[in-house]
Amino acid sequence: MTAEQNSNREQIEFWNGPAAESWVASQERMDQLLAELSDRAIARAAPQPAEAVLDIGCGCGGTSLTMAEYGARVTGVDISEPMLAHARARSAGNELLEFIAADASNHPFNTRYDLAFSRFGVMFFANPQQAFTHIHSALQDHGRLCFICWQSPRDNPWLSVPGGAAQPFLPEPESPPDPKAPGPFAFADPAYVQDILDQAGFINIAIEPCTADMRLGGDVEEAVAFLLRNGPMSRVLADLEEDARNKALDAVREAIAPYAEDSGIVLSGACWIASANRG
Ligand SMILES: C[S@@+](CC[C@H](N)C(=O)[O-])C[C@H]1O[C@@H](n2cnc3c(N)ncnc32)[C@H](O)[C@@H]1O
Repeated sequence: MTAEQNSNREQIEFWNGPAAESWVASQERMDQLLAELSDRAIARAAPQPAEAVLDIGCGCGGTSLTMAEYGARVTGVDISEPMLAHARARSAGNELLEFIAADASNHPFNTRYDLAFSRFGVMFFANPQQAFTHIHSALQDHGRLCFICWQSPRDNPWLSVPGGAAQPFLPEPESPPDPKAPGPFAFADPAYVQDILDQAGFINIAIEPCTADMRLGGDVEEAVAFLLRNGPMSRVLADLEEDARNKALDAVREAIAPYAEDSGIVLSGACWIASANRG
C-alpha cells in the first residue's frame, strides 16, 4: 500500500463535513435506534470500575458515557471535531471521561488500556490490519477488545428494503463497489474480521451474531426523514436530481409502509459482536 492508500484522509474529510452535522443533529435519535445493539455490545465488553477503556470512533460519546456509568475511566477517540465537541458538551464535569481528536489507527496513546471498545467505529480504516495491530499494542497484556459492526446490507432489511426501493433511480456505479472498502459494511464478512484480528496478534477471537429491531420512525414520513439525514442512503439521495429523488423517495415510502407496527416503522438489523484478548 502507498502512504496515500494507507491514509484515512478521505474519512477524516467525510467525518468533519455534513455527515458529522447530521450525526450531531440526530444524536438522540441515533442513540435510541442503536440502544439495544449498544447495550448488548457493552454487556459483552463488561467494563469494570476503574478500568481504562478506549472507545474507538466514539462519535458523539453515547457509549463513552454509558461505560463511565459502569465506573470505567473512558477515553473517547475520534477524527470528527464536531462530534467530539458534542461529546465533550454532553459529558462536561464528568471526571471519568476524556475525549481526544486523533486517528485511532496510529495515534501514540500515552496509556495502555484494559479494554478497547467500539460501536460501529472500526470499519473505516484504510488499512485495518495496521490499525488493529496498533490497537493491539495500545492494550495492557491482559487487555481485551470488543466491538460491534454491521453484517451485510442484505442481512439488514432496515437498510436494504429502502435501499432496494431507491436503487432503480440511482446512477449506475462506474465500477462494482469493493465490499471491503472503508465504510459501514467493510466488516460484514466474519472470516475477514477473524483474519485481521488473528494477524494483529489477538487470541480467543469470537465473532457472534446479534440482531435487533430497528425503529426508523413513528410513521413513514418520520422514517423517510431519518433515512434522508442519516446513513448510507442519505449520501446517495443528496446527489440526485430533484425529480429522481422524489421518485426514489416515493418508492421508499411504498416499500417501508408494510413494516408499520403500533410503535412505528420497524425493520430488523443484524450485526457481529467481535471480542478477543490481547494475548
Ligand atoms: C458510524 S460512526 C459511529 C459513532 C459512534 N461510535 C456511535 O455509535 O454513535 C463512526 C465513527 O468512527 C469515527 N472514525 C472513523 N475513522 C476513524 C479513525 N481512523 N480514528 C478514530 N475515529 C474514526 C468517525 O469519525 C465516526 O465518529
